[in-house]
Amino acid sequence: MRSLIDILDLTTAEIDELIETGLDIIANPSKYAHKCDGKKLATLFYEPSTRTRLSFEAAMLELGGSVLGFSEANSSSAAKGESVADTARTVSCYADIIAMRHPKEGAPLVAARKSLIPVINAGDGGHNHPTQTLTDLLTIKREKGRFDNLTIGLCGDLKFGRTVHSLICAMSRYENVKFVLISPKELMIPEYLRQEYLIDKNIVFVETTDLVGVMPELDILYMTRVQKERFFNEADYLRLKDSYILTLDKMKDSKPDLAVLHPLPRVNEIAVEIDDDPRACYFKQVFNGKIIRMALIMKLLEVE
Ligand code: CP
Repeated sequence: MRSLIDILDLTTAEIDELIETGLDIIANPSKYAHKCDGKKLATLFYEPSTRTRLSFEAAMLELGGSVLGFSEANSSSAAKGESVADTARTVSCYADIIAMRHPKEGAPLVAARKSLIPVINAGDGGHNHPTQTLTDLLTIKREKGRFDNLTIGLCGDLKFGRTVHSLICAMSRYENVKFVLISPKELMIPEYLRQEYLIDKNIVFVETTDLVGVMPELDILYMTRVQKERFFNEADYLRLKDSYILTLDKMKDSKPDLAVLHPLPRVNEIAVEIDDDPRACYFKQVFNGKIIRMALIMKLLEVE
């Protein structure tokens, strides 16, 4: 039995296999309509979500399975003090697979250690979000056709942005990938990530505060929200929240085939005028999220 807690729990070969399955699901959806007949997915969400929870649920429904769960901690026995370990052990008696989001880093790992069924980390605090990364990888594959030889700009909250952390880990395994890390000084990537995944692996990266200056060299621009819920001090959030607002004017020197990604939700950081531009890929990403979660559920349930 396997869980998915960190994107690096998957080899690059396994990621390739998930991407191939995802592409086949898009091409032949009816082939997958009964792959999970009789199976149940439990979504245990201790933190708000629109895309991750609903795409997991849609994924299981499209595979012929069913779903149960809770969308906030207060509607579960967590409100009475139950631990995530006991909750996971309990839910193991009702479902075949768990998707868990939690505000505390490491909570899905704790759940996986006690669970009798696979646990998928659907986002743990400011740490990791591996299924968003699978979503991002499917989007990159569909938009660019490759993972190698790409210059990827990541912009916004790189300190608390769990999607950024998982994406850097995943993309650092491919050839000739360059990262351009664009953030205010206060929201630069954590030191462990810089040292272990970039410096120690000899990955080329630059850190800058200047989004417009680096625009011409980017193949992918991954925008992120400054996350109010991760700040201890509201004054810091208010000072930093509008550090980067992407507009068509700021993209005028981009490559014509730049792909703009964003895990969403968006607040101010991408002007709505960009939504209909061919470079905007963030709503395509939403669709890809459901597809890759279908592929992942089948893999972890060992469905042929
Ligand atoms: N991208 C993402 O995790 O979105 P939600 O918070 O809506 O699930």
